[in-house]
Amino acid sequence: MKWEDGRLLMLDQRVLPIREEWLELTAYEDVVEAIKTMAVRGAPAIGVAAGYGLALAAKHGVDRAKASQDLADSRPTAVNLFWAIDRIGAIPTWDFESVLTEAQAIEREDLAMNRTIGRNGAELIGQGFNVLTVCNTGALATAGHGTALGVIRTAHEDGKRIHVYTCETRPRQQGLRLTAYELLDEGIPFHSIADGVAASLMRAGKVDCVIAGADRIAANGDSANKIGTYSLAVQSHYHGIPFYIAAPTSTVDAKLSTGDLIPIEERSGEELTHIEGVQVGPSGTPVYNPAFDVTPGDLITAIVTEKGVHRAPYRFT
Ligand code: MRU
Repeated sequence: MKWEDGRLLMLDQRVLPIREEWLELTAYEDVVEAIKTMAVRGAPAIGVAAGYGLALAAKHGVDRAKASQDLADSRPTAVNLFWAIDRIGAIPTWDFESVLTEAQAIEREDLAMNRTIGRNGAELIGQGFNVLTVCNTGALATAGHGTALGVIRTAHEDGKRIHVYTCETRPRQQGLRLTAYELLDEGIPFHSIADGVAASLMRAGKVDCVIAGADRIAANGDSANKIGTYSLAVQSHYHGIPFYIAAPTSTVDAKLSTGDLIPIEERSGEELTHIEGVQVGPSGTPVYNPAFDVTPGDLITAIVTEKGVHRAPYRFT
């Protein structure tokens, strides 16, 4: 994402890695649409986009409450969205310059937090580790560097000779499309795997740890993340493999005592029945398509934030 000449330029994640297309967003409604359709996705990136969306709203004199509400309604699970909206809501004035300055601060701070998460988390990654990850938690999902993928990136920069298994992440394939795109770009050795491969790799002793991001973390450490993350945590537990979550503290929702209270987005059944617009499932197939699941805190070995490496009982200060 880039703020340039009064508009938000956004790399369209729906068409990556086949095409690198930049969207030009000039109104806050464009940002709402980009979040809903997942042109931008990943909890921290959604928060950053919302900040710029509010800057566009202020620039065009849109009612503050309406713009905030429309952005808040775009996706329900990632708390970074609401965190960013609240943060801009706390600015006493509704003028373009102040809102833009705050949006830019949110973006700058996210990048700084990610670099620190990377540094904190790299200590958990040993020399020669095989690391398994899910979804995309890299530069595309954040203001830069990434969270779980940021930890992998920092460990690689440290010269740890790591190898990554990146789960495809059905139905939207963020792992296959976006994580593979970032790993290739960084020259980090990896294999893409179909989601169902993870358990047998673990059984074969080919996974030293699993690291995932989060969309919302409850006060007790229960963590919502991309659908399939919970099953990876169960599989890790069975095989005695450490399972880590990496996220900035802007992903912690301290108001929620447990993960049962986290709203889970359900998306269109077409995400499952169609691939690249081509129908693969029978017409009329009823689909249940939750975008996220919640991993209980007691299945998580540690949660890495910019503040450090937290273990149960969780306290994120
Ligand atoms: O539906 P998405 O692609 O927005 O889901 C993203 C994830 O689940 C990520 O793991 C999470 O947002 C962390 S991104 C640093």
